[in-house]
Amino acid sequence: MKGVILAGGLGKRLEPLTRITNKHLLPVYGKPMIYYPIQTLVDAGIKDILIVTGGNHAGEFLRLLGNGSEFGLKAINYTYQKGEGGIAEALKLAEHFSDNDKIVVILGDNLIEKSIKHYVQDFSKQPKGAKILLKKVDDPERFGVPELKGNKIIEIEEKPKRPKSKYAVTGIYMYDSKVFNVIKTLKPSGRGELEITDVNNEYIKRGEMTFSVLDGWWSDCGTHESLLRANNLVAGKKEL
Ligand code: DAU
Repeated sequence: MKGVILAGGLGKRLEPLTRITNKHLLPVYGKPMIYYPIQTLVDAGIKDILIVTGGNHAGEFLRLLGNGSEFGLKAINYTYQKGEGGIAEALKLAEHFSDNDKIVVILGDNLIEKSIKHYVQDFSKQPKGAKILLKKVDDPERFGVPELKGNKIIEIEEKPKRPKSKYAVTGIYMYDSKVFNVIKTLKPSGRGELEITDVNNEYIKRGEMTFSVLDGWWSDCGTHESLLRANNLVAGKKEL
């Protein structure tokens, strides 16, 4: 399976921190943010990785990461998203790279405590479809929120005013190669983006979506509060 890290967007909610650098290069405790999702993929056994970036500081990724030898990689693939048309638009750029293989996608600002290896192994045995990871949170209205019935997801709502569960859809997604056809059918949302939630809802409609509840802590880094939280969580870990 191949891995895709989405590190585009302009990180406007983190202004002025993101005025002169890309959000995913900001420090989280001892390392640049992007190090954590790379390590998550490498720890899951994924060696073939594409980073989708964008904005005015894309060249800095190459300067920082090179071919990924620090992570034991032979090479890292890079591509560039013009503008910030959404997570699904960024993912679309991975079609050529994926080469009809299944993919694990992780948002560049999503940090987790534990390994996702067993979820990835489960998905590699899943004959088709997609798999997402959920996490119980205090502020579901900030995220994609699943409506659950028994052990099934009925629908996901993106940043609902009245969340139908206490779970967030984390930024770790696993897809079969049909994902690129699904993306081609999407229309921009109210916020002008191609939404990953619309992709996931299509898989739910087809009855091809599975999920697990993620073990250990999880944080995004999209706001000043969540960036601070991620720093504190990483600093509190026994092993860095
Ligand atoms: O963190 C999980 C949440 O991420 C999910 O629960 C939501 O369903 C999903 O929509 C997303 O929500 P956010 O609004 O927090 O996403 P944000 O715009 O902050 O983008 C998250 C990452 O995705 C960002 O760090 C880089 C990547 N991205 C985002 C956009 C808009 C891109 O690569 N390109 C883009 O155009």
